[in-house]
Amino acid sequence: MADTMENLKEAFAGESQANQRYHGFAKKAEDDGLTMVARLFRAAAAAETVHAQNHLDVMGTVGETAANLEAAMAGEAEEFESMYPAFIATAEEDGNDDAAGTFDLAMQVEQIHYQLYSKALEAVEKGEDLRERKMFVCRGCGNTVEDEAPDKCPICGAPKSWFMHIE
Ligand SMILES: [Fe+2]
Ligand SMILES: [Fe+2]
Repeated sequence: MADTMENLKEAFAGESQANQRYHGFAKKAEDDGLTMVARLFRAAAAAETVHAQNHLDVMGTVGETAANLEAAMAGEAEEFESMYPAFIATAEEDGNDDAAGTFDLAMQVEQIHYQLYSKALEAVEKGEDLRERKMFVCRGCGNTVEDEAPDKCPICGAPKSWFMHIE
């Protein structure tokens, strides 16, 4: 049983990573004019998401929404308080500015996620949903914004057109 739980975790991590890798491969195929190869990568990526979600169901790590928000906040806090600061320091020592940059953008956005989740938890604890709002995500840095996309991303400087509307 212990082994199977470890295997589920490993399979979940592997499928999740394959999903993202395939989206990266699809973008490259699209840039190369290989539209149908890009579509195949996106289809396989969607299938890996199905696998990852199925594994997650069996692992039983999805709880009630209030507990899920708390778990999400703990994960975000760990990333921006501990993981990313350490990773940035190492990247700077290594002189890898690109790595330090991508870690820094993510670290800033994880703090925003933490705040958004914390407001959501307050609402859920009162037995409410969040008030109705639009949500936007910056394609440059992942900045996550309520109501309206800014003219310029305050985190990465991307223009308004880089923000995708999330349903
Ligand atoms: Fe996050
Ligand atoms: Fe951004």
